[in-house]
Amino acid sequence: MIFLVEPLLFLQAVKTLIVDSIRLENFRNYKDIELNFCDGINIFQGLNGQGKTNLLESIYICSVGKSFRTSKDIEMINHEKEYFTVNVGIKNDATDKIFIRYDRQKQKAIAVNGIFLRKSGQLMGALLCVLFCPEDLLILSDGPSRRRRFLDIAISQLNPLYYYNLQQYTKLTAQKNVQLKQIKKNPKQKDVLFVWNEQIAEYGSKIIAERIKFIDVLKDLANESHAYISEYKEQLVLEYENTIELNEYDERHIKETYIKTLEKIMQREIEREVSLIGPHRDDISFRLNDLELKKYGSQGQKRTAVLSLKIAEIEIMKKNTGRIPILLLDDVMSELDKKRQEALLSYVKGVQTFITCVDSESFDQLKDTQNYIFNISDGAVSKL
Ligand SMILES: Nc1ncnc2c1ncn2[C@@H]1O[C@H](COP(=O)(O)OP(=O)(O)OP(=O)(O)O)[C@@H](O)[C@H]1O
Ligand SMILES: [Mg+2]
Repeated sequence: MIFLVEPLLFLQAVKTLIVDSIRLENFRNYKDIELNFCDGINIFQGLNGQGKTNLLESIYICSVGKSFRTSKDIEMINHEKEYFTVNVGIKNDATDKIFIRYDRQKQKAIAVNGIFLRKSGQLMGALLCVLFCPEDLLILSDGPSRRRRFLDIAISQLNPLYYYNLQQYTKLTAQKNVQLKQIKKNPKQKDVLFVWNEQIAEYGSKIIAERIKFIDVLKDLANESHAYISEYKEQLVLEYENTIELNEYDERHIKETYIKTLEKIMQREIEREVSLIGPHRDDISFRLNDLELKKYGSQGQKRTAVLSLKIAEIEIMKKNTGRIPILLLDDVMSELDKKRQEALLSYVKGVQTFITCVDSESFDQLKDTQNYIFNISDGAVSKL
């Protein structure tokens, strides 16, 4: 295992992102708070329902522009208020501050280093972050859309153009579905489908090519990490599952095959009134010691696999951007056994980490005087 015990010497070449301050106004159960964070581990402890995850969520939206808990931004505005704002200060990077404001008229404003963005997608990559929360287990047990979402967020942070292509693809697919309905009623219009298919294949092939490239690197790193945590008893194998049968993986070949396959299934798409193949239908398969993880894996094995995915994601960000992302761990410690907790914490030594837990006392490894511990109670935060 090389990277889990990576010496700090190696890290000198890369920049470690540090969120050193945050200010929240009317964000969920926070009225107005201002906090400073340490470069190492920041622990948010408190009873259930006090605002620990809310605080992680406020940091997360500065990275991805959206919450990991809801697609409705309005839920993040304090019930009694008209808007929320989040301000984070960042050290060690070209981005030194991010500001987000959202109001009940659904106006969202995002500024990076004081400059307002035209589109929220432009935020991608400004603050790299990896989140690990209990719902991430659903990456393995839920349907394919959650796995695609994992991929899409991870790749978009590395490559904002990917996010743009994905938006175009999603828009085009929705428009094509409307056309398919009309063509079913009026088959004479069928020829317009060639135009839609050409455009869809243009964007779709870029997305597939990027995903395959990403998985190719992810699978080795995730397997390496999983093997380490399981003391080399388990082998994790990931694979991208294409709805288009491909022999080669360069973008041009993917596009040609994509168009041909779309032509072959045109009639079926018209009958079903929906786009049947492409990135919106693709999936990732996970196998552990050659068995399908979703069906045969234990809870602990699944947790380890997801943890390994996240560690692999950090490694890819580090290699591709020369920057070490921040790490957000929501309720994760209590779900791992002692050995896995240790493996995780030894890994995060060079990563600024935010951890929520009900009681930090139960985690010996967290008792380091350099860590900051914050008590959270009903939206009030005090540093111990
Ligand atoms: N828009 C909002 N306005 C005001 N309060 C809110 C809003 N959204 C959520 N809350 C409150 O925030 C609290 C939940 O916060 P959070 O999810 O951060 O809890 P937690 O400390 O992570 O708890 P747990 O340990 O159970 O995970 C609840 O009391 C909820 O009522
Ligand atoms: Mg919580």
